[in-house]
This record gives sequence, C-alpha cells and structure tokens, in this order.
Amino acid sequence: METITYKIDNHAIDQNIIKQAASVIQAGGLVAFPTETVYGLGADALNPEASGKIYAAKGRPSDNPLIVHICDFADMARVAAEVPKEAKRLADAFWPGPLTMIVEKNGNVPYETTGGLDTVAVRMPNHPAALALIRESGCMIAAPSANTSGRPSPTLAAHVAADLNGKIPVILDGGEVGIGIESTIVDLTEQIPLILRPGYITEAMLCEVIGPVRTDPGILDANSAMRPKAPGMKYRHYAPEAELIVVDGEERAVVQKINALAEKMQAQGKRVGVLGTDETSAAYRGNVFRSMGSRSDEGAIARHLYRVLREFDEDQVDIIYSESFATSKMGQAIMNRLLKAAGHQVLKV
Ligand code: TXA
Ligand code: MG
Repeated sequence: METITYKIDNHAIDQNIIKQAASVIQAGGLVAFPTETVYGLGADALNPEASGKIYAAKGRPSDNPLIVHICDFADMARVAAEVPKEAKRLADAFWPGPLTMIVEKNGNVPYETTGGLDTVAVRMPNHPAALALIRESGCMIAAPSANTSGRPSPTLAAHVAADLNGKIPVILDGGEVGIGIESTIVDLTEQIPLILRPGYITEAMLCEVIGPVRTDPGILDANSAMRPKAPGMKYRHYAPEAELIVVDGEERAVVQKINALAEKMQAQGKRVGVLGTDETSAAYRGNVFRSMGSRSDEGAIARHLYRVLREFDEDQVDIIYSESFATSKMGQAIMNRLLKAAGHQVLKV
C-alpha cells in the first residue's frame, strides 16, 4: 500500500485535504493525524472491521482498548450507557484537551474498539486538524498512538512514517505536537475517580473540579503485585532498542555516576548514550549526548522525550544512561513514561 502524506497548515486547515482523509475514514480505512498530545492512528470507532485494521497495522495486542475521539461533548452519549455528571464538569474544564474519560459503554460500541471491555475511553482532542477530521467524517474516531506497538509514541509525522509507511493510506502532517506525552486517563466508573495514566492534566487539577480523585497504585510501583487497570499500561512500552538505565539523585552525584559507568562500558567496547539536559550537556563523557531541553522548561522536557528515545535508536548505542526528570507539574507523567522505557531500571545515587 502506498502511504500519502499531506502537509497541514494548522492555522489555515485545507478543507480539501480533510475531505479526502475523511472519506478514507468513512470507507473503513486508517488515517494518522496530529493531536495536541501525540499522533493518533484513526478509524471509524463504530465499525469493528475498521478498528480491527488499527490492531493489525500497529501489531497491537487485541485486549488493549482504543480511545474514541469526539468533536462535540454531546457525542459522549452516543457511546456511553450513561453520561456521569463528573464527565460534564470535566469536559467544561478540560475539553478539548489532553484528558480521556472512561465510562460504561452502550451497545453502539463494538468490542473490537474496547478490547472486549464493557467500558469505553472518550476524549476530545485540542487540535484543529483532529477536530476537522472528526467533524468532516461524521464519525467518532477510535485512535491509539500512531506507533508500532511497543515503540515510543510519535510526536512528529516522520515518526509515524518510520513505523507505519506502506501499512496505512494517509498521514496528516501537522508538524511537531504541543505536549508530547499521551493524555491523562481518568476512570469515572470507579466509586472514587481513578487516574489510570498520568499526563498533562494532574490529579490536583482534576480534584479542583470533581473532588477526590485517586491514582491507580498499579502504575506507581513497578514492584507492586497490582496490575495496572488500563490494559495498555502493563506492556513494556516506549522502549528504545538499547538498554536504558535511569540514574536518580542530586545533579553532581548523577553526573559523576553516569561518567563512571560510561567509562566502564566504553572500556568493554560498548557505545554509550547519555540523556541529560542543557544544563549538564558539557559535563558528560558518553559517546552520544542528547538533551531533553532546559530543566527550567518542563514543557520542552515532555515534548522531547519520545523523539530523543527514537533518536538514540539511530545512534546505534548499546546502553543509555538517563538523568531523572521529576519536574513540578508533569513530572509524574514524564517519569512514568521514562521508567517504562527503562523497564524500571533505576540507580539511586
Ligand atoms: O493522548 C492520547 O491519549 C493519544 C492520542 C492519539 O489521543 N492516544 C493514546 O492511545 O495514547 P493509546 O491507545 O496509545 O493508549 C490508550 C490507553 C491504553 O493504555 C489503553 O489500555 C487505555 O488507554 N484504555 C483505553 N480504553 C480503556 C478502557 N475502557 N479501560 C481502561 N483502559 C483503557
Ligand atoms: Mg500508545
């Protein structure tokens, strides 16, 4: 299959391009499109065959449910058995935006879309191309991140092409995404709403709108016997090809430890990557250094994480040592992704 990429001007959406992409969705095909978090791989959410194509293209386990993307809050009632009152309040506060809500599904939603679950994940993305595509197609669009399963999520159209070229008909290229890590997922079917995946919208922000919210203990502690509730959170994910180890502690001690480890590995003939920040860029002696940006700009750190992990694959390093990035607001989300990429290998210094 030939993959056609259309460049999108996010400030002046070309309706002709959107019409072509929308007709692919209506016909049960796949379209990769930008959102404010990461690129998504979309299909008609109510068409089981179309959803099935997503799993095939990504190599995704069939028990891992998809998020249904809508462009109008009223559409939640088309997939939900009942729209909880918290959903309206959260939508008023955060939609369109990087928040996904889990609610009980109704009979319209095929189990192919929900990975066999009786609940459905719903999100209204804050991106003009995504919203235009959903609106023009007249469909609700099921979309996971547009990467091959297990690879870092795509923050550029080039990442989508690297994974899915020849497997999907259309990529909409809206440039680099704004946030760079996937949406916060909050499960509203629990007595106390439960965060299944941390993201840009924090527990504190949700609490302000709907009162008490908890975070799934299964995602906080890798050694816990508890399984994460979101099926996708149990897979090793976002992983670069090289082994990745996070070194955590005070900055000077971290630099020293990483340099000592790098020297040892290099003496064994290994190629070493180091993942740090603009502030520490001059301090390291690995073979390849990559920066997440400035520590004072946590938006940049979130936005660069997946790109940098992909770039290390091109560098053909054998092992990567990374600083820790527990920044003030998105730190939990950033560290959740980094630790998954590292298979939870952390050295405390
Ligand atoms: O920011 C995002 O959410 C991006 C963009 C494209 O919207 N999408 C995304 O989708 O990250 P995906 O498929 O890569 O991650 C969806 C996560 C998975 O961990 C999945 O298991 C979980 O959401 N999920 C989906 N439906 C669920 C449900 N009904 N119950 C529990 N977890 C669910
Ligand atoms: Mg994903």
